[in-house]
Parts: sequence; C-alpha cells; structure tokens
Amino acid sequence: DKAGYKHFMAKEIAEQPTVLAGALASYVKDGTIHLPGEGVDFSKMQRLTLVACGTAFYACLTAKYWFEQLARLPVEVDIASEFRYRTPPIPAGTTALFVSQSGETADTLAALRYCAGKADRILSVVNVAESSIARDSDLALPIYAGVEVGVASTKAFTCQLNVLLLLALKAAVDRGEMTRDRQVELLTALNALPGIFNVALDRDAVIRKAARRIAEARDVLFLGRGLMYPLALEGALKLKEISYIHAEAYASGELKHGPIALIDKTVPVVVMAPRDSLFDKTVSNMHEVMARGGKVLLISDAAGAAEAGADVWQTIVLPEVPEVLSPLLYALPAQLLAYHTAIAKGTDVDQPRNLAKSVTVE
Ligand code: M6R
Repeated sequence: DKAGYKHFMAKEIAEQPTVLAGALASYVKDGTIHLPGEGVDFSKMQRLTLVACGTAFYACLTAKYWFEQLARLPVEVDIASEFRYRTPPIPAGTTALFVSQSGETADTLAALRYCAGKADRILSVVNVAESSIARDSDLALPIYAGVEVGVASTKAFTCQLNVLLLLALKAAVDRGEMTRDRQVELLTALNALPGIFNVALDRDAVIRKAARRIAEARDVLFLGRGLMYPLALEGALKLKEISYIHAEAYASGELKHGPIALIDKTVPVVVMAPRDSLFDKTVSNMHEVMARGGKVLLISDAAGAAEAGADVWQTIVLPEVPEVLSPLLYALPAQLLAYHTAIAKGTDVDQPRNLAKSVTVE
C-alpha cells in the first residue's frame, strides 16, 4: 500500500522521521544504549570487519569513519563478493559484522559463512529479522525500518546508519575514548534528528528544480570528503539505479588525480559538504570544478552555503547538526534528488530495469 504516495520510494523516503524515531526508541532508553540479547562489549575487541553489498556497503563505509574516529577501533570494510573469494585471513580478536536489508543477499551470506568458526563473533545488522543472515549470526541487530518495497534502498540506509552509529557510540565509551556525558549529548542530538529530517524533506521544491536540470545530463559527479565520501557514493548509486544517468562519486581529494578531466559545463557536480572540519578543503575542490565551467550543486548548511560564494549553481540548505550525525541527514537530499530526477526522466522508480530487490544469486 503506497498510502497515497505515487511510488513506494516516495513513501519510504517520507517515512524516515517516523521509522528513525521508532528505531531510536527501541535502542535508547533513559539516555543509555540497549542492545538486544547479550549485547556487544567493545572494550577488548581488536578489530572489526564490516562486509556488505550496495547501499549496505556504503553504510559500512560510513561506519568505518565512526568506529575509527570515535572509538579508535581498527575497522576493515569490504564488498561481500570481493571478500568471500579473496579468502582473507581472520586474525584472532576479530569480530565480523554483516549489514543487509533483506538478510538474504547471496554474497553477504557466503561471506558470513566464511567467517563462521574464524571470527570471535558474528554480528549482523538486518531489516528482515527472520532472514538467513540473521539466523546464521551470533547476534542480529534489527534496524526497525519496516518493510521496504522500493528497489532503491532509502529508509533502510538511514536505519542501518542509525544502528551502526549507536554501536560506534557504545564502542567509544566501552573503550574509554568518549565520556558518558558526550555520549548522552550525541544521543540527545540523535533524538532530535527525526524532527530535523522533516525540515530536510521540506526542501523538496528546490531539489525538484535542481533535478529537472540534472535529468538533462549524461554524466553526474558526486564529491564528498570524510563522512561525506560514502554519502557521495550512495548518492551516485541512487541516481544511476533509478534515473539511468551515469553517476560517479569520488573522494573530493581524488578530483585532481583524474576525474577533473571530465569537468565541463555539461557535467553537474553534486558536492555534499556540511560546514565541518573538512569544509575548507572541499570548497577549494569545488572552486577547481567551477573554474573549469563545472556546474556545482552544493548540499550544505547555512554557514557552508554562505562561505561557498555566489558562483555555485544551486544550493540545498540543510539544518546544522553535529558532524557525526551528518551522514543520516545528508542521505535524504541524495534520495530526493535521485527520485525527482527519475520522475523528470519518466523512468520506473519502484521497479528499475535489470534490478531486483533482493539479490539471492551470485
Ligand atoms: O538486502 P541487502 O541490504 O543485502 O541488499 C544489498 C544491495 O543489493 C542493495 O543495497 C542495493 O544496492 C540497493 N538496490 C541499493 O539501493
């Protein structure tokens, strides 16, 4: 049931404030993170290996930044189809964590089975609780996104990020890298995020306007640095999945190592950059793009938009949030941009060609 929306994808994008609030209510009680079952103790963990496919992989890539920066926990991230055939050594002290919306992705399940008996513990972050990946894990952590029908994953992504961030915040305190007070501060900010999601969803009109121009492009680049790099990858994946426009994401610092050769006035460049600790670096990359005639669509906050200057082609202004929470918020404009571009192109948003919701073949 599309509940009055034209597409499941639109419905699922719009549901994000509600599902995130519900997920938070299940995990956070009285300012404390509660994990199901016997929970996870990060204090003695030596290494965390994160494995997934597609959008779930980009959630893992984001989590690497969180676990490393907040908890000083060494993290390896891999695409399941590479991980499983590389037969990597799994040193003692490794916990393996698999992220999957469906819980049935063949490569992710095979990677999990490869780790069984080798890793200290197998964790999973899943949406479908009654799934093979959940069943084969020592502990399955549900994301509580509710049923996701659209082939393009939206609410499952933000809910995966939510659980992974909660784990990183727990790891940070378990390992003595963060005070309880700071954790409570961030949990309070996280609790306010559903309301801020509504503000981001209200940017629909400006995003739709930008999407009409993006729809005319043959190629689109996405740039991001730090926590925004995985988000740039996710934005590009979403766009190509449903609009069939060739979209490519790069870490901003990689621009001059090749992709800048692609820039001309026909290639829109989506720059995802809140006014965070890396903003100045990204702005200089943005100016390199504009100096070559590239059209920049900047997704930032008010301070970032003001500093970016007048030459930016279009700006989507989001509320300011603590830097660690930015991936959850910036996912929304990326999803809406892909959605409205697909609408402008008239493609089949919920059933894009060649794609299946659950990839159970290798
Ligand atoms: O069910 P899973 O999370 O394991 O699926 C992984 C990917 O197939 C999935 O995220 C895919 O990339 C989506 N279509 C992205 O929108």
